[in-house]
Amino acid sequence: MKITYKTNFSTADRICFADNKSFSSDTISKEEFAGEKNSTVLVREGKQRILYVGLGKPEEVNARTVRAAAGVATLQLGKIGAKTIEFALEGLESFAQEIVEGAVQASYKFETFLPKDRKRKTTVSTITLVSEDKSIKKPAANGLIIANATNYVREIGNLPGNEIYPESLAKQAKDLAKELPALKVKVWTEAVLKKEGFGGILAVGKGSERGPRFIKIDYQGAKKSDPTTAIVGKAITFDTGGISLKPGAEMDEMKFDKMGGVAVLGILKAAAELKLPINLVGLIASAENMPSHNAYRPGDIIPTYSGKTIEVLNTDAEGRIVLADALAYADKHYQPKEIIELSTLTGACLIALGNLRAGVFTRDNQSAQSLFAAGEKSGDRVWHLPMGDEFSEAMKSEIADVKNLGGGRLGGASSAASFLENFVGNTPFTHIDIAGPAWTTKPLPGLQTGATGFGVKLLLEYLRK
Ligand code: BES
Ligand code: ZN
Ligand code: ZN
Repeated sequence: MKITYKTNFSTADRICFADNKSFSSDTISKEEFAGEKNSTVLVREGKQRILYVGLGKPEEVNARTVRAAAGVATLQLGKIGAKTIEFALEGLESFAQEIVEGAVQASYKFETFLPKDRKRKTTVSTITLVSEDKSIKKPAANGLIIANATNYVREIGNLPGNEIYPESLAKQAKDLAKELPALKVKVWTEAVLKKEGFGGILAVGKGSERGPRFIKIDYQGAKKSDPTTAIVGKAITFDTGGISLKPGAEMDEMKFDKMGGVAVLGILKAAAELKLPINLVGLIASAENMPSHNAYRPGDIIPTYSGKTIEVLNTDAEGRIVLADALAYADKHYQPKEIIELSTLTGACLIALGNLRAGVFTRDNQSAQSLFAAGEKSGDRVWHLPMGDEFSEAMKSEIADVKNLGGGRLGGASSAASFLENFVGNTPFTHIDIAGPAWTTKPLPGLQTGATGFGVKLLLEYLRK
């Protein structure tokens, strides 16, 4: 996508925003368009098309609603062949970043495996921001970087399990670092994982022909002596459940069980392109969870990188096992100022929060508040859920340090979070369960189906603050 800037409109397709109070027109009746949220009306002036999109109540106009409206409008104009779209920015100059994000996200669709005649014939390729205000350029350019990183994550996310497996995911990380020299990548193969004692990642990956990988991406944007923030992600490239096999219905969606790890790639990509003045390390624990004669079993007791042992009670609770190694690695080798971890960890989080919000689990209320604010602004919304002693008791094992299942059906998202806490030492830790919002099977306002890239905009907003 290309972004250009102008001070006057041309005859290109145009998008205008309107809230439900201030909108009035001689040619459009209230029945046709009243500025309601995400409603649209198409008007023709000669050859030119103008799409009005509603922002709803003026008091509800904010970064999130403007981004969504820009997306809805772009998607609609794109579907009727628009290639260049001019945005009327007047009055919304402070939302230049969000308008670009909305438009760029809306223009992405997973078409990689469609035959040529079923791919879109045209796509929106240029966005022109029409405004007198030159100060919109920097935020707009940032918005493009962030939205491109989001779409990059969505594309890898949408690739199925036969395309993306631990080794090919590691290749994606290497390719990214080739493109962006500010990123340094290191990949642990199965042999090296064995040598260095990554027992959790190895156990989960054992059942698959396609061996597990651990991926590390360093970005140094500040002084070397400055502290590092670790961003950790779960990348189960396909989760069958293993020997504790999942039911068949909707199992295809478990190709999205890698989205935490893939989001880490997108966050590092954007951080490098934005030249953020911070130090980051991205750590991705990747395995394919398969049943086979080699697979790990319920009852197994496995050693992990931290030295702690895990009693496996259900091989479908595999995310926490691979993360145990990644978190311990982060703690031991970086003593980070903070570990933030993203994973499609529990169905329980989906039950608790629905599929639009992620769960935030941390003992640090300040961090939870900052993430909440970052979520409202970025559109990747979150909600603080409990973690701690009341849940960790249930995760203690009689025959190992911890077990990977405990507490019964109740509070499953919180007991999973409390399990993870065993592996971070004293490092401040935040777990974000993205099981709900990581992908969508129905289109969302301004977003086509499939992987959403959830977490990229959230953490970039958080890290930039
Ligand atoms: N990847 C799943 C969690 C998940 C389920 C994400 C549905 C998105 C949608 C995870 O590995 C898993 O299977 N968790 C189990 C844990 C249980 C066995 C304690 C779950 O949530 O049922
Ligand atoms: Zn599972
Ligand atoms: Zn899983």
